[in-house]
Amino acid sequence: MRILAIETSCDETSAAVIEKKQQSPARVLSVSISSSGELHALTGGIIPEKAAREQLSYIIPVITKSLLESEGKHVSNLKDSLAMGNSILQQSIDALAVTQGPGLIGSLLIGVETAKTLSFTMDKPIVPVNHLLAHIYANFIDQEILLPFIGLIVSGGHTDLLYFKGHGNYQWLGGTRDDAAGEALDKIGRILGLPYPAGPEIEKQASKATEKQISFSRPLINSQDFDFSFSGLKTEVARFIKSAGPLSEKDIQEISFAVQDAVIDVLVTKTLRAAEKYNCSTIVLGGGVSANGTLRDTMKQKAKNTSINPNIYYPKKKYTTDNAAMIGAYAAYNFTPVAWQDIKAMPELYFA
Ligand code: KG4
Ligand code: ZN
Repeated sequence: MRILAIETSCDETSAAVIEKKQQSPARVLSVSISSSGELHALTGGIIPEKAAREQLSYIIPVITKSLLESEGKHVSNLKDSLAMGNSILQQSIDALAVTQGPGLIGSLLIGVETAKTLSFTMDKPIVPVNHLLAHIYANFIDQEILLPFIGLIVSGGHTDLLYFKGHGNYQWLGGTRDDAAGEALDKIGRILGLPYPAGPEIEKQASKATEKQISFSRPLINSQDFDFSFSGLKTEVARFIKSAGPLSEKDIQEISFAVQDAVIDVLVTKTLRAAEKYNCSTIVLGGGVSANGTLRDTMKQKAKNTSINPNIYYPKKKYTTDNAAMIGAYAAYNFTPVAWQDIKAMPELYFA
């Protein structure tokens, strides 16, 4: 089965063609991503109205590019490419998948309404996809993972722990009570004068730290629930910086290390505790923050000290941040098409 997937929940416009054959993992035949991130880096955060307008100008070229590349063809002039894309969609694509939410309403609407139009005009089934669950299914690209597993979603907007018992059968264990892990890193990065999004930059700065003497608190690390809280960390860092005076390059490296260390310690401790509680020997990470090498290494390292010694999976780096390949992978493993008329953009969609 071949699925054309579309993702437009935030500032990335992405389309992908995924192939799923019986007994084999999902394979990416093409993935195309345009981002308005550079525009938002100038203002230090996303302006929803601007993101939606950019989505509108990218969506058709991005879908066309992905369709052509799935058959080894390349975009030449737009008119010929559109005609070729149309015929590939008609002949080779079996179904559509689209991010339904959560996300920014203006951005979501562009992808959802485009996908619904294609579903209707081409008479193809369409699967609405929860963006958060899709971050976990980025792991099902090119590799098979046996269920059950504990899933940790760590992105710019969300931090959630879930217990996946089977495909489409999961239990939400807990999540952030305030800022998401990525959001906290982005906000702290801004205070430190680092470019947006700050997560990768904090990782880079942290790797240069040598003294490692600063320590920030680990909110909720000992609570027996699976909730997280990261907004206090931001306040603590802001206070620390205020009392420290002007920051040198070295200070920024040491603070970045301490911030990353605190966030990772909480994420790893609670995820491993969930694996132990549910006696689950597999852990799957997803979302932009799961690109972080120290998070991956620490999770693997500390997992060895637990009673169940779980296997840790994470997506290929290019599939950690927002992309349509993960949307297609989710739809391939949870193939539940609905009538196109019933699909609505749902900015507040969470877990059912
Ligand atoms: O999943 P994603 O692309 O978007 C959402 O769905 O929110 O995640 C973006 C987040 C940003 O907060 C960014 O700073 C963070 O992922 N991020 C990282 C790294 N790469 C991206 N955080 C820590 N380390 C990284 N290497
Ligand atoms: Zn995301």
